[in-house]
Amino acid sequence: MNVDLVSGALGAEVNNFDLNSLSNKNFEEVNNLLLEHKVVFFRDQSLTLEKFIKIASMFGPIEEHAYVKGIEKYPQITRIIKAANEKNQWGEGWHSDVSYDLTPSKVIILKSLKIPPIGGDTVFSNMELALETLDEDIKKIIQNKRAIHTSNGSKFFVENYSKMESNGKIGEQYSNEHPIIRTHPETGKKILYVNPTYTKKIVGLPDDESSDLLNNIFKHQERLDLSCRFKWTENAVAILDNRSTQHYAIADFYPERGLGHERVMDRISIVGDKPF
Ligand code: SIN
Repeated sequence: MNVDLVSGALGAEVNNFDLNSLSNKNFEEVNNLLLEHKVVFFRDQSLTLEKFIKIASMFGPIEEHAYVKGIEKYPQITRIIKAANEKNQWGEGWHSDVSYDLTPSKVIILKSLKIPPIGGDTVFSNMELALETLDEDIKKIIQNKRAIHTSNGSKFFVENYSKMESNGKIGEQYSNEHPIIRTHPETGKKILYVNPTYTKKIVGLPDDESSDLLNNIFKHQERLDLSCRFKWTENAVAILDNRSTQHYAIADFYPERGLGHERVMDRISIVGDKPF
């Protein structure tokens, strides 16, 4: 496989590879690229929905989103839609997907269906590097500490994203506690596992201390030298390791630019482990 690195921090674009030819034989090669580079990109992929599901299932059992309704006949596919005249979009803000779940997703696969002529890139960030480069005093404080991750579910999202539907679980809150430093179950590497969208509090610290410390960590996680940015084209696929990364879908849709154009992505997620 011919691979171009996307930045010095993470990300690899795999060229001249048709995901339709992913098989038990070459799966390990793709999975090794994923573990090494944390997010791998493939352009010009022509996949049926059935094939998209089949490819995703090679990474493990597929799960449905906690509160977003999947598409007709294929509830395991979430369609992320930014309507033409929406400025905002689902996925804006740094996050690791569904970190509020007891077993947050292992891998997320995104496939672009419609992309505005300009805008709507996604930025990914390497949380192993974030831990390595974190201030030593902060590292000592967070060693063996846990944090609470919470989402208020679909209420916020149905109000903000007009073309996306809840699966009916409106008003449910999702909350779980995870270690702040988690261990990658496949590589054994340590990962900084908090994110500004869902992590609300460090267990055992007074509120103000917890909030100051989390804000410092979030600021560190935003460092651009930990990130890579992917400019989508239609029919591109991103496979991301949701355990060791965060991502941010940039909502830079302004008049005369991306505003007035739809952005549509299909998303499948793979069942993860309980972080340890
Ligand atoms: C997401 O956060 O899962 C959406 C990412 C994107 O649309 O680029």
